[in-house]
Amino acid sequence: MKFTVTGCAGFIGSNLVDKLLKSGFEVFGIDNFSTGKKYFLSKALKNNKFIFVEDNLNQIQKYKKFVKESKAVFHLAANADVRYGLNHPLKDLQENTVNTCSLLETMREVNVKNIVFASTGSVYGENNQIPTKEDCPFPTQTSLYGASKIAAESFISAYCEGYSFNAVACRFVSLMGPRYTHGHVFDFVKSLKSNPKVLTILGDGTQFKSYFHIEDCLEALILFANQLNNKIVGFLPINLGTEEGITVKDSAKIICNTLGLDPRFEFTGGKQGWIGDNPIIQLDISRAKSFGWKPKFKIKESIKDTTIWINQYKEII
Ligand SMILES: NC(=O)c1ccc[n+]([C@@H]2O[C@H](COP(=O)([O-])OP(=O)(O)OC[C@H]3O[C@@H](n4cnc5c(N)ncnc54)[C@H](O)[C@@H]3O)[C@@H](O)[C@H]2O)c1
Repeated sequence: MKFTVTGCAGFIGSNLVDKLLKSGFEVFGIDNFSTGKKYFLSKALKNNKFIFVEDNLNQIQKYKKFVKESKAVFHLAANADVRYGLNHPLKDLQENTVNTCSLLETMREVNVKNIVFASTGSVYGENNQIPTKEDCPFPTQTSLYGASKIAAESFISAYCEGYSFNAVACRFVSLMGPRYTHGHVFDFVKSLKSNPKVLTILGDGTQFKSYFHIEDCLEALILFANQLNNKIVGFLPINLGTEEGITVKDSAKIICNTLGLDPRFEFTGGKQGWIGDNPIIQLDISRAKSFGWKPKFKIKESIKDTTIWINQYKEII
């Protein structure tokens, strides 16, 4: 059995490729290394069940023979950085929405109709419903990233309706774990490396967020892929995260303790870290649990694991 993974050299993608190969599946992966790392694929590239092309997803049409006969496509390639969206207003649209459409067209041509899409809890904006359910009142978008992901979800759902595709849009909270390369833990460890005495925290530190571990994410992605055209027919958004949350300040304390540091915290102030930062992210995960999935890792453990990993892999900083 074969799967296609877009964004296969990224944090989630490379972990997924390793897991699929370990289970004996064939994998076709595409990545342009815009944020992905070749060394994340070092094990996979030695496996003859892995076909890899280094290219932009907007060229996916050229590789349709490799996409053909995939049981499902895991679509992870994206500009995953929410914070800098306003610096390049069309990037999210091109990378996250238009490229998704190119992929959908290629899938349609080769009659591959099952897709697991990496969406995001950011699509809920600053929602009044906490924990937020998948069918909450449709949100006002607060970031170009969120807007581009919900637009991509819309195209995917239209392909489900129009061409009988089956899709899960996984709306993730932020992930943690080995190969993590972007997000607040990364920023804090990097900052503490250059100045272990002071840590600047964006906002007032009370932003309350949920995080979950890459291992829990992979279990869910594979579980849902196997349910496509089975228990999941048509389009289904599913939240993924944990039922816990933590403030940014408490998260910073875990990171400092893990590194054995005791810096002074300085806050930039305000309830948001940056424009588009949702100060509270807590998703209702009962839909995911109804498929028999539940997160195994606690947030504290995930933050600690991630800190240790970043600290060991100094080349990513
Ligand atoms: N990590 C998180 O906390 C998180 C949370 C919510 C949603 N997501 C979503 O999950 C997916 C994977 O995120 P990640 O954390 O692994 O990010 P990442 O940046 O590590 O991985 C994305 C991968 O896609 C590749 N890529 C980007 N644009 C491409 C293009 N045009 N053509 C080919 N390859 C391209 C990058 O090189 C990278 O390897 C993304 O869609 C992201 O939006 C991630």
